[in-house]
Amino acid sequence: MLLKDIEQIFLKELSDVMPLEEIKTAFAWLMEDYCGLARFALVMDPGYTVDKPTETLFFNALNQLKEGEPIQYVLGYASFLGDVYDLNRATLIPRPETEELVEWAALFLNELGAAESMQHPPLHILDVGTGSGCIATQLAKKFPESVVKAIDYSPEALQMARVNADKLEVHVDFLQEDVLGEHWKHQTKYHLIVSNPPYVLESEAESMATRVKEYEPYAALFVSDEDPLVFYRAIALFAKQHLYPGGGLYFEINALKEAPLLYLLKEMGFTGIESRADFRGKARFIRAQIP
Ligand SMILES: C[S@@+](CC[C@H](N)C(=O)[O-])C[C@H]1O[C@@H](n2cnc3c(N)ncnc32)[C@H](O)[C@@H]1O
Repeated sequence: MLLKDIEQIFLKELSDVMPLEEIKTAFAWLMEDYCGLARFALVMDPGYTVDKPTETLFFNALNQLKEGEPIQYVLGYASFLGDVYDLNRATLIPRPETEELVEWAALFLNELGAAESMQHPPLHILDVGTGSGCIATQLAKKFPESVVKAIDYSPEALQMARVNADKLEVHVDFLQEDVLGEHWKHQTKYHLIVSNPPYVLESEAESMATRVKEYEPYAALFVSDEDPLVFYRAIALFAKQHLYPGGGLYFEINALKEAPLLYLLKEMGFTGIESRADFRGKARFIRAQIP
């Protein structure tokens, strides 16, 4: 069958499910994965045909996409800062915003590492709620001399994170811990604690795309409207006791909760508190330091 005819079927049958640009992107990713073709290959070679087994792969993917399944779960991987991360249904799909969080935290670590006053080298880093391991592994890659730990309460997510760390050939100590539990087992001190915790309000779910709220792990995304800062409070409390003086706390946040979180961190005695917008111009990150 002609690949361009399959593309037309995708464009027609998915038009009620996702915006045109997303259909085109999904199809391009499938083309690359199933046929090894670049995005614009069809323009160069409109007569490109696929064999029966490949045709079946495309139509199976079409059915999954029609059900609302995200393309990253259909493929089983997503890209993050130029690396490929394997995913399962317990791992959140890494977002481009989170790439910015990694870059911001890395800037801080670079400054800290370069500071003559830095005590207790190597750098000790903790990623809370690691999911696919995208934050922890990228920091381990950027700072190969560092000691990186990452926690999550989902064993299935941790299993995937370990696979991703192995593929990237970085060492991260992955531990199963409940952030909201009584106490976390490890008593180490850190130079950086970073987290992209669950922060979408349950009341926001209604306005979200099916593929996000029905396919991505609920507990990775959502937090109750009654206590939306529950993860931030627990992590900040931990950070107060487990950051070295001058150590940094870096969060991805919900723009709706920027002001109360800034207030909370100030009340808790953090200094150097700063918020930042993401590439869409939305308040998305907060950093703070231990004096
Ligand atoms: C928003 S996801 C972030 C995943 C990944 N760090 C990223 O940026 O793509 C939040 C993560 O927190 C984990 N999580 C949720 N509740 C938790 C808890 N009580 N204790 C530990 N981890 C938790 C979820 O399993 C999920 O992996």
